[in-house]
Amino acid sequence: NPVELGSISSCSPAELPPGATPVNCCPPPNSSPIVDFQYNTRLPQRLRRPAHLLRPDEIARYNRAYQLMRALPASDPRRFSQQANVHCAYCNDSFRQANSRSELQIHDSWLFLPWHRWYLYFHERILGKLLGDDTFALPFWNWDNQAAGSPLANVIPSAYLNQAPLIDSLRNQQHLPPRLVDLNYSGQDSGPIPPDSTQRAENNALMFQQIVSGSRTPSLFFGQAYRAGDANAPGGGTIENAPHGTVHVWTGSAAAPNREDMGTLYSAARDPIFFAHHGNIDRLWVVWKTLPGGRRRDPTDTDWLDAKFLFYDENSRLVRVRVRDALTTEQLGYSYQDTGNAWASARP
Ligand code: C2O
Repeated sequence: NPVELGSISSCSPAELPPGATPVNCCPPPNSSPIVDFQYNTRLPQRLRRPAHLLRPDEIARYNRAYQLMRALPASDPRRFSQQANVHCAYCNDSFRQANSRSELQIHDSWLFLPWHRWYLYFHERILGKLLGDDTFALPFWNWDNQAAGSPLANVIPSAYLNQAPLIDSLRNQQHLPPRLVDLNYSGQDSGPIPPDSTQRAENNALMFQQIVSGSRTPSLFFGQAYRAGDANAPGGGTIENAPHGTVHVWTGSAAAPNREDMGTLYSAARDPIFFAHHGNIDRLWVVWKTLPGGRRRDPTDTDWLDAKFLFYDENSRLVRVRVRDALTTEQLGYSYQDTGNAWASARP
């Protein structure tokens, strides 16, 4: 049977890593009945653009959206801190599955990609609602784009470095621009910084290995099956491990006990760059399905398709979503700007 979160009232304190400051990650209680997700076909399509190419007016709008989200009352499920805690609750053992005592964990399994797609979907809708702008789209951090030039795609984009709403103080200070991202980051910065050309070649090779040659089947790409009552974390797909996990750890502060914020699950989404990082992961799911060869299709197992989660929407209603409704971004009302995927044809 599919994994399901049946209610949020089963939420218990998160299990935090050693050294973490205690935090209650449970969402505010809901007062009205849970509603089943429906597509909203009346809204305009949103175009998610690469963060490094945002125009000044787009950056201003993006900052305003987060300023508004940070200013909501503490009990509002749409407040930024509450949005960040959604990740913590689904990742640090706060929720139990419906009809089972098992904890619900959306990492290290085939739930990883669809759960994060839904998470971004609602986050984006909330930001758009706060702005009163239905065309607002989350940007994506295009770290897989190794093109040299200006501005660079594969550094921390300047949008996250200049204005308070998008800044996070818990980042690795050695990894600020012009330092190129290391998509195969080991967690250590020993030794000399490699020349940019070397880093670019290594990043392209990592992308080719994880998204092209190493993920020719759905289970390689999405990760292992995780059904109702199964033990947590049966195994993540290629993309979840790297570049997803590596960029998290690369971004978080090396001086913090668990590489907060980005480098550990409970705090990762406290950094607004999280949502741009996951925008790129989500985009790569779209890209992967277009690559030739192998069986690059979404899983057809109904235990995947019918897995169910709960999210607060832009009107603070608690919505029940299924994986099967998240397979086509255009149906959800958004798409990604094409920035090329040079690594896809760059067999090392
Ligand atoms: Cu839920 Cu990037 O982690």
